[in-house]
Amino acid sequence: MAEQHSVPRHIAIVMDGNGRWASKRFLPRIAGHNKGVETLKRIVSACPSRKIDTVTVFAFSSENWNRPVEEVSGLMDILAMALSREVPKLQRDGVRLRFIGSREGLSARVKKGLEDAEAATASNSVLSLNVCFNYGGRWDIATAAARLAASGTPITEESLSQALSLAFCSDPDLVIRTGHEMRLSNFLLWQTAYSELYFSELLWPDFDEAALDAALLDYASRERRFGKTSDQLSGNSAAKA
Ligand code: IPE
Ligand code: IPE
Ligand code: MG
Repeated sequence: MAEQHSVPRHIAIVMDGNGRWASKRFLPRIAGHNKGVETLKRIVSACPSRKIDTVTVFAFSSENWNRPVEEVSGLMDILAMALSREVPKLQRDGVRLRFIGSREGLSARVKKGLEDAEAATASNSVLSLNVCFNYGGRWDIATAAARLAASGTPITEESLSQALSLAFCSDPDLVIRTGHEMRLSNFLLWQTAYSELYFSELLWPDFDEAALDAALLDYASRERRFGKTSDQLSGNSAAKA
């Protein structure tokens, strides 16, 4: 069972609202996605001083392939460009980058970019940045279950957890979704069983350090009970009966 901390160690973010941010400015949606990369850089830089050691972001869902072809190819270009530009800075800041999701359907150029970035940052340890790209929570669970079945491993909560793509880190303590939508949209379905959820009305390109701090303050006021009672958590034995 996770220990209670007032600061989340692992935050997960559904970076939503790029398209609306651009439309409000009569810009193409891709301009919103470019601006979203700037926000991500800012938020990642802000994490270590706030004692966050893992950030998992949702960058492209399994269902985002259903968007217009120009938007999908624009997103692939943004990823490839951001990788070639940003890896040296991640390196300097000690950020370890991992891409979580299916590699199927990605071009050879994008796949190589992901692999090179992962390899270049593999020994960094200040912050773990997991980018969910071509990711869906259902894909994650189904892939893990299929792998266990193929190897004849009994499927239990423990074995399935260990076969999921984020098995190397703890579950997210806090999930932030920007863009004023109150849903998970197939993000980390298994791992968020006991995460605290926080919804921001801000569009992702407008999210900043102050907005992050507001989410962290809200998190600090939550009582994570994991099924227990409040009295059990406070050690109030008189109220046990
Ligand atoms: C999130 O922003 C980024 C991706 C899904 C790639 P959107 O593109 O979904 O922005 P809105 O929700 O249309 O404003
Ligand atoms: C979720 O946002 C996916 C990412 C942020 C990458 P969407 O914009 O795709 O979600 P829906 O379609 O509004 O549920
Ligand atoms: Mg959206």
